[in-house]
Amino acid sequence: MSERSWALLGVASLSLLAAGCGAERGGEPAAPDTWGEPTAALDTNPDPEVVEVDLEAREVEKTYLEGTTTTVWSYNGTVPGPLIEANLGDTLIVHFKNSLPEETTIHWHGIRVPNEMDGVMAVQAPIAPGETFTYRFTLRDAGFYWFHPHVMEPEQIQKGLFGLIRVRGPNEPEADDERIVVLGDVLLNEDGSFNEELDDDMIMMGREGNVVLVNGRTMPALEVRPGALTRLRIVNVANGRFFNLALPGHAFRVIGTDGGLIPKPYDAERLLISPGERYDVLLMAQGEPGTELTLMNEPYERGHHTGHADPMPLATVRIGQGPGPSGRALPETGPAIERLPGGPAEATITFDEQYVDGKLMFLIDGKAFPDVPPIDVESGSVHIYDLKNDAEMDHPFHLHGFFFQVLARDGVPVAEEELANKDTVILPQRSTVRIVTRFDAPGMWMYHCHILEHTEGGMMGEIHVAP
Ligand code: C2O
Ligand code: CU
Ligand code: CU
Repeated sequence: MSERSWALLGVASLSLLAAGCGAERGGEPAAPDTWGEPTAALDTNPDPEVVEVDLEAREVEKTYLEGTTTTVWSYNGTVPGPLIEANLGDTLIVHFKNSLPEETTIHWHGIRVPNEMDGVMAVQAPIAPGETFTYRFTLRDAGFYWFHPHVMEPEQIQKGLFGLIRVRGPNEPEADDERIVVLGDVLLNEDGSFNEELDDDMIMMGREGNVVLVNGRTMPALEVRPGALTRLRIVNVANGRFFNLALPGHAFRVIGTDGGLIPKPYDAERLLISPGERYDVLLMAQGEPGTELTLMNEPYERGHHTGHADPMPLATVRIGQGPGPSGRALPETGPAIERLPGGPAEATITFDEQYVDGKLMFLIDGKAFPDVPPIDVESGSVHIYDLKNDAEMDHPFHLHGFFFQVLARDGVPVAEEELANKDTVILPQRSTVRIVTRFDAPGMWMYHCHILEHTEGGMMGEIHVAP
C-alpha cells in the first residue's frame, strides 16, 4: 500500500507546487486545472499485496449539458468510475453490489483473469438488482485496463458504467506527472436525458454521441509543466466513436498500449484509438508559460464515408508556470516482451455486415452470435489467424482472456515498433490483419467487435480452450 500512497502524494504535491509557483511568479493565480482525474478506489485491505475494494453500481445525477441533469449509471457514484490502483502480482478483490434497476456483470477488459471471473454470460449468471458478487483474481500484467458490464453493453456503458485499473510494474518509466484520459461521448436530448433512439445509421457506425467527453467533461483543461514529462494513460470507452488525437506542435511518445509497455517506443503525431483500446504515452510539452494548446480529434474515415469532416476540439492543454524541465528525457527503449512465433495463418476469420430479413446484422464467417461456430483449441497452444474484414468500415477486434500480437497487415509484416501485447486492434475496412495468440487458460472466451452496437448485432464468437 505504501508505494501507491506515495505515488499519489507525489502527483498531488507536484500540482500544488505548480499552482504555487504560478501565483508567485506571475502575480496572478494560475487558472484551475479542471482535468477531472478519476477518483482512486479505497483499498480496505492492509495487506500490501491485496487490493480490496467495494464497488456499487447505482444511479446518480450528473451535469453534462449546462442547466440540465442526466441520470447516469455509475460505479460508486462517479462517471468515469473509480480508478483501482494496484501493483503487479497483487490480488484484487472486488465486492460488487448491483443497485441498478437492471441486471449487470463486470468484465475486466484486457486483464488475464480466470475464466469464471470474466463477467460474460458464458461463465456467470447476470447479477440481479439488489444482488452482490465477489470478483477475485491476481493481476498478472502491469498496464492500464478498464472494466465495464458484459450484458446490454451498448446501453449500460453509454449510461456511464466504466471504471479504470492501473497496475504498476517494476519497469515503470520516469515521468514528472501522470494523468488519466478517458475518451468517450454521450447522445443526449436537450433536457439532458439520454437519447435512446437507435436507427440503422446509428447501428451501422455504432452510436456516436453529440457530447464528446474527456474524463466525463466537456473541454477540460490539463496543466502541464514546460519541458517536463507528462505520462498519459488513455482509454476509449465510447460505443462507436474513434478518436484520432493530435496536439499541435507536439508528438506523443508511445511507450505502451493495451497490455503494458512496449520494447520500442515511437513518436506519433496522430494517435488513432478505437473503442476499447488503450495507449500509454509521454508528452513533453513545449511553449511559453501560459500558452494554451487544444487537444484535437482529427478526422478519420472509418467507413461508409461518415467520418466527421472537421477537426473537433477535445480539451485544453495549458503550459503552466512549473519549475521547468526536470532533466528527464523521453525513453528510447522499453522493457523486452516475449515475441510469439510468426508463420502462416491456420485459418481465416471473416467479419462482414449484411441485411438479414431486413435487419442489419454483423457477421463472423457469415453467422451472427450465438450461431458463430466456436473455435476449439487446447490450453497452452499457439495459434495464428487471419482476421479478414470484408466490410466497408473498420471493426475493432477484441479478444478476452489473452493478449495477441499483430504479425502482418495484408500480408506485409508489421514494423518492429508494433511488437506489443494487444487485446483490441482495428481491422481496417477491406483488409486482413494477422495475429498470433497463446491460449494459456482453459474456458469459454469471447471475441467480438468493440463497437458495441456491432457486438449486439451479432459480431461475437467464442473460443473454447480445453484444459
Ligand atoms: Cu471491453 Cu467483451 O469487452
Ligand atoms: Cu474484454
Ligand atoms: Cu464492428
